[in-house]
Amino acid sequence: MDLRLKDIVQTYEDKLILNHVNLEIKDKSGIALIGPSGAGKSTLLRLLSGIEDPTMGEICLNNHEVTHEDKSEYFKKIGFVFQAHNLFPHLTVLRNITLVLEKVHHIEIEKAEKIALDLLEQFELIEHKDKIPAKISGGQAQRASIIRSLAISPEVVFLDEPTSALDPILTHEVLKTILKLREKKMNFMIVTHEIAFAKKAADYVVFMENGEVIEHGDLSILDHPKTDRLKNFIDKVSYDI
Ligand SMILES: Nc1ncnc2c1ncn2[C@@H]1O[C@H](COP(=O)(O)OP(=O)(O)OP(=O)(O)O)[C@@H](O)[C@H]1O
Ligand SMILES: [Mg+2]
Repeated sequence: MDLRLKDIVQTYEDKLILNHVNLEIKDKSGIALIGPSGAGKSTLLRLLSGIEDPTMGEICLNNHEVTHEDKSEYFKKIGFVFQAHNLFPHLTVLRNITLVLEKVHHIEIEKAEKIALDLLEQFELIEHKDKIPAKISGGQAQRASIIRSLAISPEVVFLDEPTSALDPILTHEVLKTILKLREKKMNFMIVTHEIAFAKKAADYVVFMENGEVIEHGDLSILDHPKTDRLKNFIDKVSYDI
């Protein structure tokens, strides 16, 4: 994917959250967005996905002028996975996936079911297709959310700390699912605290702190940070107990 952020400013109630962010990334498929709590990572992801508009600045993703484009069309081309799964609680896993295909993308139910069943098979969730979210594990539900976001063949999937609500074993399950996105050459951008995972899944890293992009580059910046701020961050998050 190609991404261009031009002078992005975001303020909430006069508080500066993103401070003139400029960023140009070309032809990358997995971007890891890292940085301390409060850095502005989720805010940036919401702007990129069009859920919110910036106070100032322009965002281009591939050939979409996100800040100017008709959002309803843009939303059909991207996927978003939140910290906690947001499946409809009263619908089965299968229906959670087919409903979006049917209602938003106007795909006939037979075809929608075929797409959903194929994905559930590929991502090893087929045995749970008829269960409601409360009857499966948090990890399985999060994987189902990822599958749902993929069902529309999006240009890019945005994932905001998809494992933060999960224990280590379930985290591993979900991270394996995200690695599959890489194998399938899907474009994605993920906010993550898992540096080891970022090294496996991503081909580009963006480090933010205090509403600014401090450093960005290929994976080598994780082993050889150029700035003290990234170095300090990596030292802090990769401690051994
Ligand atoms: N809707 C909002 N209204 C007011 N302030 C907000 C809003 N959303 C975020 N903020 C503030 O913006 C700053 C950046 O928040 P953001 O959620 O983007 O950080 P983050 O890097 O995702 O942090 P974390 O790692 O904890 O998820 C924080 O100071 C937060 O309090
Ligand atoms: Mg966040």
